[in-house]
Amino acid sequence: MVIYNRISLRIMKSPQGLVVIGLQWGDEGKGKIVDVLSENFDIVVRFQGGSNAGHTVIVANDTHKFRIMPTGAVRGKRTVIGNGVVIDPTVLIEEIEALREAKIEIDLLISDRAHLITPFHIQIDGLNETAKGNMKLGTTKRGIGPTYCDKVARVGVRLSDFTQRNSEQWSVLESSAKSIIEKIYGTVVDDPYIASLESFSSIIKKLLPYVGDSGEYLESAFNTGKRVLFEGAQGTLLDIDHGTYPFVTSSNCVSAAASVGTGVPFSRLDAVLGVCKAYMTRVGTGPFPTELKDDIGHRMQNRGKEFGTVTGRPRRCGWLDLVALRYAIRINGCSHLALTKVDVLTGINPLKVCVAYDVNGTETSTFPSYTEMLSEVVPIYDEMAGWTEEIEPSPEHSDFNNLPSQLQNYIGFIERSTGSKVAMVSVGPRRTDTIVDSRFRF
Ligand code: IMP
Repeated sequence: MVIYNRISLRIMKSPQGLVVIGLQWGDEGKGKIVDVLSENFDIVVRFQGGSNAGHTVIVANDTHKFRIMPTGAVRGKRTVIGNGVVIDPTVLIEEIEALREAKIEIDLLISDRAHLITPFHIQIDGLNETAKGNMKLGTTKRGIGPTYCDKVARVGVRLSDFTQRNSEQWSVLESSAKSIIEKIYGTVVDDPYIASLESFSSIIKKLLPYVGDSGEYLESAFNTGKRVLFEGAQGTLLDIDHGTYPFVTSSNCVSAAASVGTGVPFSRLDAVLGVCKAYMTRVGTGPFPTELKDDIGHRMQNRGKEFGTVTGRPRRCGWLDLVALRYAIRINGCSHLALTKVDVLTGINPLKVCVAYDVNGTETSTFPSYTEMLSEVVPIYDEMAGWTEEIEPSPEHSDFNNLPSQLQNYIGFIERSTGSKVAMVSVGPRRTDTIVDSRFRF
């Protein structure tokens, strides 16, 4: 097993541009971590993905669930949806209305370069999945993949097409989408009126007051000393380039995407905080070496309420995989980690952590690029004692020394194995269930 002794002792001191990234297959609890951190930031920005994400924030008795809105909206912060996000206008309007109902002030800027998810894309997502049969990905069926495909094929529509009243681009999209639906799948458009320019434009109209050049805005915000938090969606192992292809989403979910997806130069991004669940989960299909199909897996699923925010599907659960974690940390360049859902492991004894893979009798700590191989590896585990105490965060926990000794051991093991420092520990879904190491100033 690889042990990284050089744990970064660099103390993160109030970075101006901080990127928060998921290090597993999504659902790491990024929404909650971003909510906690956003108190000290001026602007919260989404830069990739779309309504396939589901970020949950619990404040006192209120639960807020967002798919597109940046989580900072709950605190009434300035929020920005960058050019790298694909927007389902209907979903975004619903979220804006929910915030209004909750009497939360909305301060939103949406990039005019962002691509739009249309009813065609949602229909094609479903048709693609059905056509794949056994090889289906288990997408969220929100039209994400087809929208990114059209972006790259240069037949997509962007918000700027509606601010500039460019109906020609809509015609390009419409004829491309119809030929897929009619000629490839031999069916018809689900609801021709909903998928018409007239109907779609009337929905987009509601968003136009929020639309502008977000790249230019962020540049001036940085120049005037504003602090900007970049909120990742999905997770590194779902990244289109670095994830477990083809069982991935269709955007880049790694830290570098924060620059491309907003137009902010990467030199502005001072630090990357990786969010990592204390165990692993995966929703949808694809290999998962440490998956548990036994009572412990069910226990994680129930205690962790591991059911998808967007689709309600049960998430597969398993032991923490340090091979995958080291890989994700390397790609994102995170010096610091937020370890979430630690409370879900309370009472499980012993705990197991995957430290390497056995590939046909050979031990490796390299995460394989060939996904098929990942379904054949046998995890090699280290065992350690679990803790039994429920943890109620209090100021005395903030140097981590007063956490249960077994949990300190678990954290220390992760730090030594990855070379990254655990700076935050989350022990429950509420904002207040969060312990921040007092040496870190986010
Ligand atoms: P898509 O992003 O809807 O195209 O789905 C592709 C794959 O990514 C499927 O396995 C989804 O379950 C997974 N996925 C997409 N978004 C999320 C997320 O926010 N959390 C967890 N899994 C996700």
